[in-house]
Amino acid sequence: MNTPQLPENPLFRTIAEAAGELGYPAYVIGGFVRDLALVRPSKDVDVVCVGDGIKLAQAVGRKLPGKPRVTVFKNFGTAMLPTETVELEFVGARKESYRAESRKPEVEAGTLEEDLARRDFTINALALSLNPQDFGTLVDRYEGMRDLQQKIIRTPLDPDITFSDDPLRMMRAVRFATQLNFDIEPDTYDAIARNKDRIKIVSQERITDELNKIIKAAKPSYGFKLLFQTGLLQLIFPKMALLYGVEKVGKHAHKDNFYHTLQVLDNVVDAGGDLWLRWAAILHDIAKPATKRYFPNVGWTFHGHEDKGARWVPGIFTDLKLPLGEEMRMVQKLVRLHLRPIALVKETVTDSAVRRLLFEAGDDIDRLMLLCRADITSKDHQRKELYLRNFGLVEEKLREVESKDHLRNFKPVITGEVIMEAFGLKPSREVGELKDAVLEAILDGKVRNEFEEAFAYLLQLGQAKGLPPVHPFTHQ
Ligand code: CTP
Repeated sequence: MNTPQLPENPLFRTIAEAAGELGYPAYVIGGFVRDLALVRPSKDVDVVCVGDGIKLAQAVGRKLPGKPRVTVFKNFGTAMLPTETVELEFVGARKESYRAESRKPEVEAGTLEEDLARRDFTINALALSLNPQDFGTLVDRYEGMRDLQQKIIRTPLDPDITFSDDPLRMMRAVRFATQLNFDIEPDTYDAIARNKDRIKIVSQERITDELNKIIKAAKPSYGFKLLFQTGLLQLIFPKMALLYGVEKVGKHAHKDNFYHTLQVLDNVVDAGGDLWLRWAAILHDIAKPATKRYFPNVGWTFHGHEDKGARWVPGIFTDLKLPLGEEMRMVQKLVRLHLRPIALVKETVTDSAVRRLLFEAGDDIDRLMLLCRADITSKDHQRKELYLRNFGLVEEKLREVESKDHLRNFKPVITGEVIMEAFGLKPSREVGELKDAVLEAILDGKVRNEFEEAFAYLLQLGQAKGLPPVHPFTHQ
């Protein structure tokens, strides 16, 4: 592990100069220094000074070309300064817990030592001096470099104190362990298990922010295992924790849906799935515990878990304060449809079944197929190969039908208006029934989705119902 070095950027000398003129000792600190040591990209530079952080930011701003505007967060005692290369954040060293988003208007000024002690983890309590006498020297009071080397997340103080200062740090410990593939040091880990209930005082937005960072990591299953083992998951997302466990009656045992879900999640990540596909993986079997039944002749069933799970999605998104727009609808759709492609594999693949799936999945068909491939977690190698091969066939069929019928962005040519105009009807159930009947015929492949043909079929349907068409038909 290399000792972190300040990058070749004149900015740091400028900050040092301004701090010197104000008589403030100043340091680059926190995540930026950690990421320098790890040779990991980092966006923001945190600067701490023993003095007034806002004054220092203003002094630096005056020295920079173009004199960028300083944004002051008076309540937080911090100031932000955008530059061409990085965003600088300034704060005065404080005696109490360091929390960027702390609402406390008054924070007691402290020394660098006090500031470092109240940070979350040893790997985040590293500082690089910006002072003339030792410019660029590393300050490492809590063996943060050793912990980086040994890949360990550890609190600088007694973990009970660090976590009680800000219980979100328990989630952050899991998040950093997951992002960096580190272990949580045993005392720190035990303190999470002991203090887990305190997570309840943290706002849902902050919890979900950390959860999403875990989900965005290269191997999110590791984070979820830690959340589960420490007991945090049971508090922040109880429905997911309920997936855990195997029940056995006689020779019938079902798989552990928690570990299965995590495997699917990792598979989706490996296949390049974004955050929302990852959420679809997390939620695809979420209603299995609620739909589980045992039949002596058949074993365990989870009948209807895909529909129930899809119905739960808005409630889960609301509780977790996740966005309720397009992303949620996509996740909901994938949860609802996740059994369909595999069902197609098992039957002889008819055009009509493929057409229906394309119509329902629309533009999300590729995402659905990605999720479903990820859902094949059978340990039996031959079986897995067979499934994947059959899946290839379904995908081929999907491509064939799509290039013929363009169902992905399917807009039925026969709308309610066309029907009302054709037969001189008012909005009614009958109009809806006719519309559905035409759609069914199109999806069944009896009629092409093209106006002339579909309209002729509509007239036939009308005739069978004793509905005479209105002439002349003017609809364009
Ligand atoms: N910090 C802390 N306790 C918190 C939040 C932050 O002690 N609950 C401190 C840590 O020293 C951290 C620094 O504030 O390094 C900056 O916080 P933040 O920007 O949230 O995290 P980073 O470490 O920069 O990491 P990332 O950008 O990946 O979130």
